[in-house]
Amino acid sequence: MHSLKKHSVLALGYFLLIALLGLALRLFPVVELSFDYRYMVHTHSHVALLGWTYTALTTLIYKAYLGKASIERKYRVLFWCTQVTIIGMLLTFPFTGYALFSIIFSTLFLFASYVFMWFFARHTSKKQKKTPAYKCIYVSLWYMVLSSLGPWALGAIMNTAGSGSDLYRNAIYFYLHFQYNGWFIMALIGLLLYFLEQKEIALPRVAFTQFFWTMNLGVVTTFCISLLWMNPTNSIYVISILGSVLQLCAFFILIKHVLPFQNEIKRMDSKLFHLSLKIAAIFFLVKLLLQLLGSIPYFASKISSNIDLVIGYLHWIFLGVVSVTVLSFLFHSKLIRLTSRSMALYFLGFILTEGLIFYKGTMAWFKEPVIRHYPWLLALVTGILAFAIGNILVLQLRRKDISDSAL
Ligand code: HEM
Repeated sequence: MHSLKKHSVLALGYFLLIALLGLALRLFPVVELSFDYRYMVHTHSHVALLGWTYTALTTLIYKAYLGKASIERKYRVLFWCTQVTIIGMLLTFPFTGYALFSIIFSTLFLFASYVFMWFFARHTSKKQKKTPAYKCIYVSLWYMVLSSLGPWALGAIMNTAGSGSDLYRNAIYFYLHFQYNGWFIMALIGLLLYFLEQKEIALPRVAFTQFFWTMNLGVVTTFCISLLWMNPTNSIYVISILGSVLQLCAFFILIKHVLPFQNEIKRMDSKLFHLSLKIAAIFFLVKLLLQLLGSIPYFASKISSNIDLVIGYLHWIFLGVVSVTVLSFLFHSKLIRLTSRSMALYFLGFILTEGLIFYKGTMAWFKEPVIRHYPWLLALVTGILAFAIGNILVLQLRRKDISDSAL
């Protein structure tokens, strides 16, 4: 347990680091900073997806399913090997971008993540395997494996079509889509169901089956949204709209069957946990509506060429849906400490940064100029978000049981 708390704090450390890297990226246009912008985006995105989200999610999954499997030593070796690959990426991407060593570390990371999936499938009991929560987490790990086809394909594409090709861009979009829509979202839904199962709350069988298939069909078909920047044939738009509607239906099936247990959920943990989950669910609904809007041809063409709307949408999911739920789950699992004030500051930073990014995207859409000193304002509110994340990290370091125990 002690080491899982440390793993969670390490994940939070990456979270702060990516916020600071994000701040540096946003200061880049207005301050003379001597780094390569693209290399730094690579560093930021790899540490965000793998350092923060992967470490936190696998820690939660391990605690829920593998904690009692007597594989602690093996898991510890896997955990630290994985960390070496992440730190390797952190130390190579800023200076070389995609080059020999950063590619070696990224490839080793993929192998480590496959081993985690194998641990999970191998060491969970027959009883656990029958639960809806297990099924969601199992499929989420398959999405993680599926997403890795993107990076594997990049090598071949770089040597043939080149890094400026459509294929290269689509391979990156494939990776990103199955990471956040498949792996992150399904794992978080699985963990939610797991927490409910611990309180003997289960969705009716038929409702779960409906939810599961509608959601997964939606995850696979909404990949087509990532292809809309190419102005593809009408059928791709139709599949995108269908996939977005399917995901909305899945969301409502889940909510319809979880809402009757509101009071039990309230009793599960503090008000803060309950409120954070509610807010994350609203953010998720907004994501699904934006996704549907972005599948309609007129909006798709406007959005895909508007970098601020794309980055704003992606970070809405990463910071609003995924990170808020991950923080709440770590808190519920007693792996980290949170306070209402620390979360309020986080939400403030998040809403202000997203508000400004969407504002710039909208002004660019209507070909209007943005307010003076916009980059400074964006950097300032990003500073608030980074401060909020730093504050959450400091809360943990002040906690006696983490700082006192040996590494
Ligand atoms: C903590 C606050 C964060 C800030 C201030 C921030 C800021 C940024 C910035 C400035 C970019 C570069 C945009 C560009 O010019 O292309 C970026 C890209 C990216 N960020 Fe973040 N970010 C944050 C958190 C996250 C999180 C939590 C994740 C994922 C879990 C994430 C994943 C990414 C990815 C994947 C990209 C690359 C997107 C692309 O190339 O299309 N970021 N971020």
